Amino acid sequence: MTQTLTIHRPDDWHVHLRDGALLQGVAHHTARQFARAIVMPNLNPPMTDCEGVAAYRTRIMAALGEAADFTPLMTLYLTDATDPDEVARGHAAGVFVAAKLYPAHATTGSAHGVTDIRRIYPVLERMAAIGMPLLIHGEVTDAHVDIFDREAVFIERTLTRLIADISDLRVVFEHITTAEAADFVAGAGPNVAATITPQHLHLNRNAMLVGGIRPHAYCLPVAKREHHRLALRKLATSGFARVFLGTDTAPHAQHLKEAACGCAGIFNAPFALESYATVFDEEGALDKFEAFASLNGPAFYRLPVNPQTVTLVREPVTVPDSYDCNGTTIVPFHAGETLNWKWLG
Ligand code: NCD
Ligand code: ZN
Repeated sequence: MTQTLTIHRPDDWHVHLRDGALLQGVAHHTARQFARAIVMPNLNPPMTDCEGVAAYRTRIMAALGEAADFTPLMTLYLTDATDPDEVARGHAAGVFVAAKLYPAHATTGSAHGVTDIRRIYPVLERMAAIGMPLLIHGEVTDAHVDIFDREAVFIERTLTRLIADISDLRVVFEHITTAEAADFVAGAGPNVAATITPQHLHLNRNAMLVGGIRPHAYCLPVAKREHHRLALRKLATSGFARVFLGTDTAPHAQHLKEAACGCAGIFNAPFALESYATVFDEEGALDKFEAFASLNGPAFYRLPVNPQTVTLVREPVTVPDSYDCNGTTIVPFHAGETLNWKWLG
């Protein structure tokens, strides 16, 4: 049985680092394990222009200290009013590497998102021309569509058409949660990739709803039925090249999750690699872990693989019940549980 796993240092292709005091409290958890991370722009107000994104990057580096061995890869928040020239300018200048499409009102911090994707076709056509990836929160927001179906309906109504209309566009279908999404990505061309979170590999919707409502298992897109979880595990551990690690770590204060209307988002940064490694081990696929965590993402984003290595060992680790993140109490994913792999750095 494999007892140690040494892999190129991984990257996290989807994180929420927040801002202000909370940024100071959470960013180091991501920077500890990951060399680079794609940083989501859904702040309040959202990061919709070059100056705002550049200033946010400066605040992230200040929060970590200039000596931190971590590179934030920034993203632009698309709205109905996004200017294609602004996108091209920021990309050329290296201010951001990708742009994020939030359908308006799909999730936390998406109120300024895109109301109809056709409105931003000029932006997407420009992105296709310059090779800039589009990162998609893939859920419809139609009130008539059941929340458990919103991802599958998005594929049918929006994504299939987008990819047919702008076939050169490079797309990351973020935090996929369904068998339909796994099949779609596996069958799509070389311009389409996906990220998968640790929670969607560990949890189905029973984990959120059986025996009481568990707010710390609630995120968006919401966890689905067991057969979807199994399809995600199969894809993630298959060695397929266009699927990679993206935690979607999304910290919210404990009291805002344990509330009558609790926030969506799971804080999984502190034990992210341990959580994923446990899944790959359970699936008998530790040999595929490095591709998922450290190789496939850089290949899709056309970046070098990190030269450093990290090591995990087969040893139990117990996840704390909560963290004090610079004054905000946050309950992490797997709180109080024991995982079978320990990250040594
Ligand atoms: C994210 C957040 O809190 O910013 N929440 C979540 O449940 N994943 C937003 C998002 O990525 O959808
Ligand atoms: Zn997210």
